[in-house]
Amino acid sequence: MDTLCSIIGYKGKQSAAPILVDSLKKMEYRGYDSVGVAMIDNGGGMMVRKGTGKVQEVNKNLNISDMSGSIGIGHTRWATHGGVTDSNAHPHSACSKDIAVVHNGIIENYRELKEELTKAGHVFSSQTDSEVIAHLLESNIGKGVKAALMETCKRLKGTYGFVAVFQDGTIAGARFEEPLIIGVANDGYFVSSDVLGFLQYTDKAIFLDNCDIAVIDNKKLEIFNFDGLPVARPITQVAWELGEIDKGKYAHYTLKEINDQRVTVANAARQDEQAMERFCQTIKEAGSVYITGSGTSYHAALLFKHMLARFAKIRAETVMSSEAHDGLASVDEGSVIIAISQSGETADVLESVKIAKKQGAKVLGIVNVVTSSLARISDVFLSTNCGPEIGVAATKSFTGQLALAYAVTDRLSGGKLKAGEGAEFVNAIEKVISTSQPVIEKMAEGMKEVNDIYLLGRSIHYPIALEGALKLKELSYVHAEGVAAGELKHGPLALMEKNTLVILLAPQDATYADSISNAHEIKARGATVIGISDAKDEVYDHWIQIPHMDQEAFYPIVEVIPLQMLSYYMALAKNADPDYPRNLAKSVTVK
Ligand code: F6R
Repeated sequence: MDTLCSIIGYKGKQSAAPILVDSLKKMEYRGYDSVGVAMIDNGGGMMVRKGTGKVQEVNKNLNISDMSGSIGIGHTRWATHGGVTDSNAHPHSACSKDIAVVHNGIIENYRELKEELTKAGHVFSSQTDSEVIAHLLESNIGKGVKAALMETCKRLKGTYGFVAVFQDGTIAGARFEEPLIIGVANDGYFVSSDVLGFLQYTDKAIFLDNCDIAVIDNKKLEIFNFDGLPVARPITQVAWELGEIDKGKYAHYTLKEINDQRVTVANAARQDEQAMERFCQTIKEAGSVYITGSGTSYHAALLFKHMLARFAKIRAETVMSSEAHDGLASVDEGSVIIAISQSGETADVLESVKIAKKQGAKVLGIVNVVTSSLARISDVFLSTNCGPEIGVAATKSFTGQLALAYAVTDRLSGGKLKAGEGAEFVNAIEKVISTSQPVIEKMAEGMKEVNDIYLLGRSIHYPIALEGALKLKELSYVHAEGVAAGELKHGPLALMEKNTLVILLAPQDATYADSISNAHEIKARGATVIGISDAKDEVYDHWIQIPHMDQEAFYPIVEVIPLQMLSYYMALAKNADPDYPRNLAKSVTVK
């Protein structure tokens, strides 16, 4: 019933429907199981069209772009539970049909609110939590739009960014723990969950703070807090390049983003000198260092910890953001928390930062979206500089995070890592991408019937084994498990038999000899072994070659590339859509 979605509102001089459809397409990566729009048509009536499917499909079926009017709101939905049905799609209307609402987040107390509103005579038409917002606004609209929003926000528990459109043409929104941004154009306003929603129309943005309410009526834009007091929020100019999200010559965003890594890793390694200095100084001064993230970003945290220990002799604790309550219990005023997040909007990550901050810690952010909530609450943040990542599975943002972790470690260790601007791994990545595609594509075709894959890696390769397994699961829907190779004999060896497939990360570094003996143990049980290495070995049934690295610590950023490619091509072999894996959303802004 809860949703995790993109929202957009427009009030201006242009025809709103094509703008809303275009914006929703740009933000579809955030959630994509249903779509809907509410418009005030030229005759002053409220029209809602909504249905299940992707934006293009729903627009084709319902002719959303043809709706008339210059005021409207739109939504794409990603249901975490509760059905994907036309009636659960947003916008949700109040009984009178004079108010419609789109919402991103979770209303935790919706059951009691729904019961109360039903008793008061409201009739609900969906199973969503979001619909209560429309009915709450309706109950209070007699006091005016501003008061209706304030009263509504006072009653809601949970997280939300919502936008409502009213029959008189007013658009209003409020936010609590979910992003909401206003786009200021020459001839109108946008209200969106993401700057990508309006960036093709204006680069002027107002980032609403938590507990802000914005009302755009026929006269002006007003922003005030939940107590009704006016607040001033600056207009920020956002970078136009954030809006470049064309697939170009590639069949999918995921393939484009895998290829982008030839360039993006270098962009991540090259950092603003001052921000880098402040970032590193904060770590140096800290009594204890924690690193947090979710999913792929957590895997980057694991490698970062190894790098800091090995080269800078700094001990860091890694904490999975969703486990932060216990994991951060010992954080104090002397601590620093490094939070890694592509989107900078992941609820678990923001929650862990909040916990650490409350206990007095300093916050260092590593983000890709520099306008994100994480960037804004960090004491210092560094950007992975990868450009928008649209494919739901993280690819270039991960290697960006690793490149940045190398750069920070290098500085903290007084240059021991010899990372420079990453030339060695930049060249190696270029080589892997340009040479291994035919081998990997063929391999993926042969693997499409496989049900279980084990990825083995030791030491700094273990985080990559975990990341490779995550990519395979997400993109090609195969059960895949990352195993610390040394743990094999402590249990997983029991699973090795004739039909088992193992991918071994075995570059020629300190882990090499042990990894090769693991390969023999696996082979002896009849399993198939794919080796990812700079050296061929007879124990492999298949070999994916990566270049030799002078700096052993750079193998992880290179060896993850074939795993991304394998996951992508396996998805194609299994007729899955690699850009939009089932049940997943790019930016998980709910807990
Ligand atoms: C994996 C993936 C997710 C994200 C995770 C954190 O391919 O995309 O596991 O890594 O949801 O997202 P961010 O980095 O935006 O905090």
